[in-house]
Amino acid sequence: TRLGAALLNKTLPDTIWQARDAAIELLHSVFYRNKGAYLVGRITGGGEQVPLVLPVRHQEHAEQNTEGVPRLHLDTVLITPDDVAIIFSFSRAYFQVDVAVPNECVGYLQRLMPHKPAGELYAAIGFFKHGKTEFFRALNQQVAKREDVFIIAPGVRGMVMAVFVLPSARTVFKIIKDEFDPAKDVTPDIVREKYHLVKRHDRVGRMADTQEFSNFTVHNDHFAPECLAHLLEVAPSTVSLKGEKVVIKHCYTERMMTPLNIYLEQCDDEAQLAVLKDYGDAIKQMAAANIFPGDMLLKNFGVTRQGRVIFYDYDEVCYLTECHFRAIPASSGDDYLSGGNESFSIGPNDIFPEEFGPFMFANPERLRVFKQLHPELFEVSYWQGLQQAIVDGRIIDVYPYGNEQRFVDAEQ
Ligand SMILES: Nc1ncnc2c1ncn2[C@@H]1O[C@H](COP(=O)(O)OP(=O)(O)OP(=O)(O)O)[C@@H](O)[C@H]1O
Ligand SMILES: [Mg+2]
Repeated sequence: TRLGAALLNKTLPDTIWQARDAAIELLHSVFYRNKGAYLVGRITGGGEQVPLVLPVRHQEHAEQNTEGVPRLHLDTVLITPDDVAIIFSFSRAYFQVDVAVPNECVGYLQRLMPHKPAGELYAAIGFFKHGKTEFFRALNQQVAKREDVFIIAPGVRGMVMAVFVLPSARTVFKIIKDEFDPAKDVTPDIVREKYHLVKRHDRVGRMADTQEFSNFTVHNDHFAPECLAHLLEVAPSTVSLKGEKVVIKHCYTERMMTPLNIYLEQCDDEAQLAVLKDYGDAIKQMAAANIFPGDMLLKNFGVTRQGRVIFYDYDEVCYLTECHFRAIPASSGDDYLSGGNESFSIGPNDIFPEEFGPFMFANPERLRVFKQLHPELFEVSYWQGLQQAIVDGRIIDVYPYGNEQRFVDAEQ
């Protein structure tokens, strides 16, 4: 609390500090997720407000507790709208929170985070079904406004999914294609299973939430002609025309982000460094939650408005503990790739971290920078160490705020 007060002292705007009517308010309900409890509210004064989130955790080291009673500590103080929005992100598990009137709670949260759609906030506080209803309602309203039409998603087309977007609704729609690229050995059932796995799993702030819809129907003039033609061509068993209506038998929706490959082509050096750091952090944090993304190419990650890197392509996802991380046998060198005489057999779950580089980056300079930021990702021992930690039941904490924002290190 001492550190929290000092932080507020430093960061609260003067108008609030000096206001006679300055006040702190907190919701009665406590928001629980994983090992954290969050108090949520705002600081007001002088006609201004900042959101306030106080994450509370148990003391990390049991031996520091007195009389066996677990002590609590304030882990940080969050008062910027972006930091607070990240806590409530669509890329995290839903909170467990007891609220008497969900509508009031969501209304309050929306005042703290005006950019967040109500549907995402309902989902964030555990009312996923109502969140889906709100999302669908807002989507229909946006479609009816006719600000734009459905277009093919910018970026590299999927080998498994046909993806289209309504940019004004910040939403992507994903349809399982009738035929997959030969490079893929998944089936439509496996794809659904993987999306379901992610839905149930802790998404640790790094995997986008999905909604699943059946028989999504919309007038054909809401589609750009080339987009509709593409969908009818690659997914005829899912997308059909009924008179002037387009009927989509099954699709997933997700929040639309900027694909990381596109983002990197457009951003400046500083943003590049930040996003490369976050890309590696995303991979590490998913791994800490026992998820291996399978396909770690840049095109399978998106960048949010806050510059966070989030994974969205789930067809090759698997549990980290199912992977077999291997070093390339010393005698083989590069030969196994170039079809030389030296060879060794590769199992279906074999993964060679030393080989990640060229898959991730076509640009050698970017690879060099990334390797400097995240050298461990290319080491077999790093991955095996994580697997061992998971098998041993050691929970690797992933915080929904930067480690550098935590008070705990400063106190120990
Ligand atoms: N949430 C999103 N936001 C923005 N663009 C997206 C999103 N999801 C997918 N896309 C775009 O659609 C493309 C295909 O999506 P996705 O990677 O999910 O399909 P896929 O068929 O599984 O891909 P792959 O061929 O890599 O297996 C992506 O490369 C990206 O350009
Ligand atoms: Mg992809």
